[in-house]
Amino acid sequence: MMILYIAVTLAALVLFNVLAVRMVGEYLIEQQVSNGAEHAERMAVEATALLDSSDDEGLYKYILENSQSLGGRVLVVDRYGVVQADAFSMLNGMKMTHEEIVSVLTGSKSAASGLHLLYVDERKEPAYGPGVLERLRRLIDINPDARQWVLYSAAPIVSGGRIIGGLVLSASIQDAVDRIERLRFQFNFFTVLICFIMIILNYLLSGAIIRPVRELTRGILILGQGHFSHRVRVRGHSEFARMAETFNAMSERLESIDRMRTEFVSNASHELKTPLSTVKLLVQTLLSQRPFDPAMTGEFLGDIDSEVDRMTALVSDLLVLVRMDEKAALDFENVDLSMIVEDAAVSLEPIAGKNQLELEVRVEPELTVNGEGSALRQMVINLMDNAIKYTPPGGKVTVGAVRRGRDIVMRVRDTGIGIEEKDIPYIFDRFYRVDKARGRQTGGTGLGLSIVKGIIARHGGIIDVVSKPGQGTEMIVVLPGAQERLAGSARNITQM
Ligand SMILES: Nc1ncnc2c1ncn2[C@@H]1O[C@H](COP(=O)(O)OP(=O)(O)OP(=O)(O)O)[C@@H](O)[C@H]1O
Ligand SMILES: [Mg+2]
Repeated sequence: MMILYIAVTLAALVLFNVLAVRMVGEYLIEQQVSNGAEHAERMAVEATALLDSSDDEGLYKYILENSQSLGGRVLVVDRYGVVQADAFSMLNGMKMTHEEIVSVLTGSKSAASGLHLLYVDERKEPAYGPGVLERLRRLIDINPDARQWVLYSAAPIVSGGRIIGGLVLSASIQDAVDRIERLRFQFNFFTVLICFIMIILNYLLSGAIIRPVRELTRGILILGQGHFSHRVRVRGHSEFARMAETFNAMSERLESIDRMRTEFVSNASHELKTPLSTVKLLVQTLLSQRPFDPAMTGEFLGDIDSEVDRMTALVSDLLVLVRMDEKAALDFENVDLSMIVEDAAVSLEPIAGKNQLELEVRVEPELTVNGEGSALRQMVINLMDNAIKYTPPGGKVTVGAVRRGRDIVMRVRDTGIGIEEKDIPYIFDRFYRVDKARGRQTGGTGLGLSIVKGIIARHGGIIDVVSKPGQGTEMIVVLPGAQERLAGSARNITQM
């Protein structure tokens, strides 16, 4: 493409050069020609009487003076073209057969001119005649200063209505020719220069455009092969730089997703391995018991049962997480969060009682949320389950929900062990447990809060934690009320 541009520009430049040089050249030469003709005609008139009266001396004096004042050479010929007077006194008596002279002598033209290339310092021919080599040498070796373009301007000398001779003015027009040549050279020089600049610019520009594209393509290929750590270099502030930045942001995100996935799988397997090996150990002990001990068997089977429960809970949590990743948008409908919270409280009441905890529920009626009922229920249960689990006997768990403007604010507060400030940023991470050992005893896998966070995010809400170790924890959930969400989805539909 670039080459085409250069070629077109070059062609236009060359055409312009040729036309411009020709126009300027023609103008300059024509000026010289009309000047020469004017002088020749004037002198022809003035020399008539001198030629007519055969005043050779007067004629010679006249042409000599004029030659000097005009910076040329004036010759007078008779009606046969024989030189009668030559300002340079070299051609006297010789016949001139130049076309322009012949044409004025025959009367076909009132003035005529002709251009001739003369060799001013013509070498003397060697006595034995120029050999081929000598000729060649002279051809190549012509001194440009020795060549001269000369303009012959001829006018007839008329007396009594008859042409009695002609006057020839021969003047060098080398100056004008030189000027034209200089112009041609300058034009050509600039054409070559422009061409060079264009080629260099083309090279630099195509480098600047093609290099980042090539790098990006390579980056995409590498990324496609699964090397998410690959980054491309960002240069400057062009569109390409922005593309490179976007690419890097994308590969960074892919890398972190990939890392999270690997971590998730390894954590999940690790979590499953522990109960599995416990079960395996228990079963082996049962198989190898001699003699059969019904009491021990009963106890071990109970342990196996609770381990299986643990695994079932873990697997169902994992399934919830995977499902959440799969479909972010669910079939939302208006659900009553007040009912959900109250139901959850009813089902958790027995556990709270067992742990000697007081459970207080203060919920405003008809807090409508546009969302998925079962997910919201799981969110509430997970939060209440934590509050109960991490509060020692004698403590209190309070659940409240109120409307605040368009939002619904739900709080789950306990008087339990609390969370250290350094742990707070991590409690929503998958598999994160503050106290790993106790976590396992209480049966937690560290997935509860990550599920909670995922559900709240999907409903367009946020969750915050306020906690003091030894004093208790409060989880604050803010969800958009139903109107807002309905309006939001209506907007989305009209946008589609
Ligand atoms: N109310 C709370 N009081 C004190 N610590 C809490 C409370 N809620 C959560 N935590 C801490 O945050 C960690 C993560 O909670 P999360 O609910 O995700 O996991 P879990 O309760 O240990 O296990 P799971 O909920 O999957 O059975 C818990 O292990 C616990 O250390
Ligand atoms: Mg939990």
